[in-house]
Amino acid sequence: MKQLIVATANKKKLQEIKEIMADLDYRIISLADLDSVPRIIENGKTFKANAVKKAMTIARATGLLTMGEDSGLCVNALGGKPGVYSARFSGKDKNDEKNNQKVLNLLSGVPLKKRRAHYCCAVALADTNGLVGVVEGKCFGLIAAEPAGNAGFGYDPLFLIPKYNKTFGQLGVQIKHRMSHRFKALEKTRKLLEKYIEKQGCP
Ligand code: IMP
Repeated sequence: MKQLIVATANKKKLQEIKEIMADLDYRIISLADLDSVPRIIENGKTFKANAVKKAMTIARATGLLTMGEDSGLCVNALGGKPGVYSARFSGKDKNDEKNNQKVLNLLSGVPLKKRRAHYCCAVALADTNGLVGVVEGKCFGLIAAEPAGNAGFGYDPLFLIPKYNKTFGQLGVQIKHRMSHRFKALEKTRKLLEKYIEKQGCP
């Protein structure tokens, strides 16, 4: 079976990617499965830049087809923050609870209709020859007044889907995987992979 590296150290993300791509004709390998990998400093100004950096660095180091993923939450009333700093919004320890509390504190007193936000997920594919392509998916919602539910990870207890009037934390992964930023980006990634295979041709 063909192999695809997913260049992330985030176990929850990796699990979601594996669930969404369960039917893929590739065996998914994570960074944890590799003996030694170069450290990737996520200093890009955009999700796409970080995703490309992850994919290219690991593809170059391993010689294998690699998917880089970068994602986060953008809140309109906070000028798009936490954005690319989503994981470390409240500090280097990458604490989800503290991150959520910081968002809630910054939005204190802001009415629900002005709490619009979206998640963004960028996925890049690269091999030893360089970048194959990069795609993006977005999911729109509102920031709830308080955390609700404990499904998913990160900001999911705050991310309210107006159609259901429930957060991703309450809705659970079945519904999340049908509408999330990650699902949308991975749908586009499937198309990139199809084109990539076509271009490889026959031996
Ligand atoms: P990264 O691993 O540097 O891309 O950080 C992504 C961060 O964005 C996570 O640690 C979460 O805080 C947030 N994030 C990204 N995707 C999701 C999601 O699907 N649900 C909740 N939080 C997310």
